[in-house]
Amino acid sequence: MLITGESGTGKELVAKAIHYNSDRRDAPFVPVNCAAIPEQLLESELFGHMRGSFTDAKMDKRGLFEEAQKGTLFLDEISELPLMLQAKLLRAIQEREIRRVGATKSIPVDVRIIAATNLNLAEAVKHKRFREHFYYRLNVIELRLPPLRERREDIPILVDAFLKKCADSRGKQVKGLSESALAMLADYAWPGNVRELENVIERAVTLSHGDMIGADDLPVQVQGSRGDRRILDEAAEHTLPLHEVEKEYIVKILEKTGGNKYQAAHVLGIDRKTLYRKLAEIEGKPHSDA
Ligand SMILES: Nc1ncnc2c1ncn2[C@@H]1O[C@H](COP(=O)(O)OP(=O)(O)OP(=O)(O)O)[C@@H](O)[C@H]1O
Ligand SMILES: [Mg+2]
Repeated sequence: MLITGESGTGKELVAKAIHYNSDRRDAPFVPVNCAAIPEQLLESELFGHMRGSFTDAKMDKRGLFEEAQKGTLFLDEISELPLMLQAKLLRAIQEREIRRVGATKSIPVDVRIIAATNLNLAEAVKHKRFREHFYYRLNVIELRLPPLRERREDIPILVDAFLKKCADSRGKQVKGLSESALAMLADYAWPGNVRELENVIERAVTLSHGDMIGADDLPVQVQGSRGDRRILDEAAEHTLPLHEVEKEYIVKILEKTGGNKYQAAHVLGIDRKTLYRKLAEIEGKPHSDA
């Protein structure tokens, strides 16, 4: 099984949820970050080794595959796995047995493999950086976790959960967020996804004085996002052409400036003449310079 999604979308959390809700729950959940282990060590980490199989191998050692016996091996950042090990892993999955480095005999293993990546593996396959057969094997079931900006309806639920968690662990009484703070959270693009949201709430709980989190308790990049993002997200959602987006934006800014064209032109960064011309186009009137 393959879990895909941007960084911070909850891939590991989902992998754990699958493990602990399955009949493997009493056996270990073993996470391995393929990007964090040096390439020379990875094979022995995964498959184990026999004493004397290389200079530092003073004793026989079980690999993570054996540690995960009857349970789940979670291979995080699978795209970073060297091609040679991809082949070995595919073999292990297909044959249901592994061989420790330097061993002559195979050991049967019964392990569920869940892999995760924030890259497009199909692309990596095209460029021969990822083995096709291994990809198809993992991809039998693909679980795609959408970025937070594509499921904004989850934001209030997550905020509630993180507030409770933080307030409990810090013994702070925080009831909730002000309306403007909530609006900012709803509008922000969340490039770091759920992890970023969790950090923002933690920080806000720490900074807040009263029992409500206010806009001032949020990081500047979140405060700055107010409004503007929404328009763009909606425009993209409806695949609006550029001139439509421009039109809507001009109308919005005019509303904001109470119809003051001088101010509106200033905010939009265009001269007044250009604004008049654009407004005439919007209203479908022929434009005169008068
Ligand atoms: N639905 C959720 N409810 C509560 N917490 C969540 C949820 N999704 C993610 N989180 C939290 O967000 C953080 C990031 O999640 P996780 O580590 O699973 O992301 P990831 O997709 O593996 O990210 P990366 O690619 O950076 O490793 C964790 O602290 C996790 O507990
Ligand atoms: Mg992760």
